[in-house]
Amino acid sequence: MAEAASAAPEAAFPIPSGVFAETVTEVKHYTDRLFKFRMTRPASFRFRSGEFVMIGLPNAEKPVYRAYSIASPAWDEELEFFSIKVPGGPLTEHLQKIRPGDTVLMRKKPTGTLVNDALLPGKRVYMFATGTGIAPFASLIRDPETYEKFEQVILCHTCREVAELKYGEELVAAFREDPLVGEFSDRLVHYTTVTREPYPRSWRITDAMENGQLFRDLGVDPISPEEDRGMICGSMAMLKDTKAILEKFGLVEGSNSEPGTFVVERAFVD
Ligand code: A2P
Repeated sequence: MAEAASAAPEAAFPIPSGVFAETVTEVKHYTDRLFKFRMTRPASFRFRSGEFVMIGLPNAEKPVYRAYSIASPAWDEELEFFSIKVPGGPLTEHLQKIRPGDTVLMRKKPTGTLVNDALLPGKRVYMFATGTGIAPFASLIRDPETYEKFEQVILCHTCREVAELKYGEELVAAFREDPLVGEFSDRLVHYTTVTREPYPRSWRITDAMENGQLFRDLGVDPISPEEDRGMICGSMAMLKDTKAILEKFGLVEGSNSEPGTFVVERAFVD
């Protein structure tokens, strides 16, 4: 109760127990479908880069929670999220209206399989994202641990429209200038594709994997279980298709309890 009283004086409903009530510090809208927000980080909250949490708003007696990957790295003093705006969506319809100073609820326990611990060591890690699926990788590419584990990081991002790539482009540009992790800049490759507008690479990443275009563009051999690792985050259909392709290349799905050569995040709904 003490937490509820002190954390969110403007909340219309009491803060439920077992959640943190945090203050929004920044909101940026990219398109009519996409926005990011940052909020304060509770001093006691620890997570591994790539994990997700359940996010809600203090706007109902029983708030609606949705899984959100934490897009900021484990060392960051704030928490960042990248969200879709679902028309009529029970959470995002309201979440898209938040402003600095507002309260966001976060359940206390982070979890997830898109973590370095769930992958066996390798030379190169591919991160395959569509749409807001880039969020866990926004965390991982900013974590020095990723570069301790892998020589090369290939962040693949496919969106419907060019404007939807903007968050990732800003992220990578800021990463390259960051005094803490910028030293790893030449080990990160950002490979973007767009499917519904003219673009130099106008194809789904899955097609580029199957027809070899991805590997020709990167100047590397096709994916092999000896050298390469994969992480996948996107819609259910994208997860299924990308997983099947990685399995054809001989990679085997891993988990926290049994690390493998690729991992998939299944927590998200479209
Ligand atoms: P496309 O425009 O050809 O459907 P969404 O917003 O629907 O999740 O889509 C985000 C991006 O993911 C789009 O560029 C979309 O391509 C692509 N995509 C959708 N389904 C798949 C899939 N099964 N495999 C690979 N990419 C996909």
